[in-house]
Amino acid sequence: MTRVPQHLALIMDGNGRWATGKGRPRWMGHVRGAHTAREVVTYCAQRGVEQLTLYAFSSDNWKRPADEVGFLFDLFASHLERQLAKLVKNGIRLSVIGRRDRLPRALCDSIEATEAKTAHGTRMHLRVAVDYSSRAAIHEAFAMAEGRGGVLPDTHILPPVDLVLRTGGERRLSDFLLWESAYAELAFLDVNFPDLSTADLDAVFADYAKRERRYGAVPAERATEIEVSPPMSPATSAHR
Ligand code: FPP
Repeated sequence: MTRVPQHLALIMDGNGRWATGKGRPRWMGHVRGAHTAREVVTYCAQRGVEQLTLYAFSSDNWKRPADEVGFLFDLFASHLERQLAKLVKNGIRLSVIGRRDRLPRALCDSIEATEAKTAHGTRMHLRVAVDYSSRAAIHEAFAMAEGRGGVLPDTHILPPVDLVLRTGGERRLSDFLLWESAYAELAFLDVNFPDLSTADLDAVFADYAKRERRYGAVPAERATEIEVSPPMSPATSAHR
């Protein structure tokens, strides 16, 4: 069985382009994207991913037209309500990360209800990032750590990410889990999110399984192979 990332962070990009490429309005891309998100959650739980964090709405997404923002919030709320029973049945704990104070009251109510009812799920922890900015979260975590003897609160800093996957062809992190992804492997797919398939995920996981994660160290078997070379002169070492 292929080794899968314990914590997968997914940037679900390309909904708009999926729709406009088919001559359809952007909202149809989000509807289709939500369907794909559901399939991804199910598949990741089946494959043994322990933590899955989905980037659903960044704090910079407020720059989008109000209609699109409102549509996305309604879509999140309706999916939370419709998926609740399935989440509970499958042991999936859902949490939402990001700011809540700018979200519609009805969405906050759905989030709180879903979080409470899925809190005991132990199979997979699904986090959905809504009105999320990693830089803002880091800022807040450091502000809170000052009053806690320097200990960062785990409400703002998540477990380390093993793999960041971004669909939609762009190759950037867009303010998503920057601290947590310090040693994450990165994967980028040109496929738009609504078209992401379980076969694509299989291929990404297979590639991830082949990567050697060294965290800055030298693997034990290679450490013994290194020949001792003369120390570098200050002139050559100065610019390393
Ligand atoms: C990025 O595509 C996608 C979003 C900003 C929204 C993501 C939302 C979903 C996948 C649907 C709902 C999710 C859940 C968890 C119920 P884009 O609009 O930036 O696409 P573009 O780059 O092609 O314009």
